[in-house]
Amino acid sequence: MVTVRVATAADLSALLVLYKEFNPEDPDLSIVDSMVIWAEMAAQGRIVLVAERDGAIAGTLDCAPFANLTRGGRPILNLENMVVGEAHRRHGVGRALISAAVELARQRGCYKLQLLSVDSEEAHAFYESCGFRHAARGYRFYL
Ligand SMILES: CC(C)(COP(=O)(O)OP(=O)(O)OC[C@H]1O[C@@H](n2cnc3c(N)ncnc32)[C@H](O)[C@@H]1OP(=O)(O)O)[C@@H](O)C(=O)NCCC(=O)NCCS
Repeated sequence: MVTVRVATAADLSALLVLYKEFNPEDPDLSIVDSMVIWAEMAAQGRIVLVAERDGAIAGTLDCAPFANLTRGGRPILNLENMVVGEAHRRHGVGRALISAAVELARQRGCYKLQLLSVDSEEAHAFYESCGFRHAARGYRFYL
């Protein structure tokens, strides 16, 4: 069974494990540093979702509401760091996280959800199966 809830600081260690699985080359982040960043994220109004499958943390999705002066002032929900642990893939965990994000966006009066996908056919198939459509060209300037 898959359930989704809002993450708390108590989930940080499990989140770091998932992020490491997603980006293995990333430098390690200490729990102390991650707690400082977590506080900054909370101050910005970020909502990190976690999915549990049969009691284990199985996936996560970072939701960033973005206040907006167009579209009658309706906000945007930006999505980042969508990751499901390898052992939990293809069991509906990702879909459950996206459904929770869509519900959150509706509750907040957002007019759209948006994300930049990694360049992977699997990820594209996943997002499209969740109702997302390829609608823009992404540009990045890495520093
Ligand atoms: C992409 C990812 C989030 C999908 O999570 P998941 O929990 O396995 O996805 P779900 O089980 O909810 O799949 C929902 C549907 O998406 C599609 N889908 C999911 N993974 C797929 C894959 N590898 N290949 C093709 N379609 C896929 C299927 O239509 C699937 O429905 P089905 O299983 O009934 O056929 C997961 O594979 C992942 O974390 N990958 C590594 C990180 C990553 O690429 N994140 C995206 C960053 S932009």
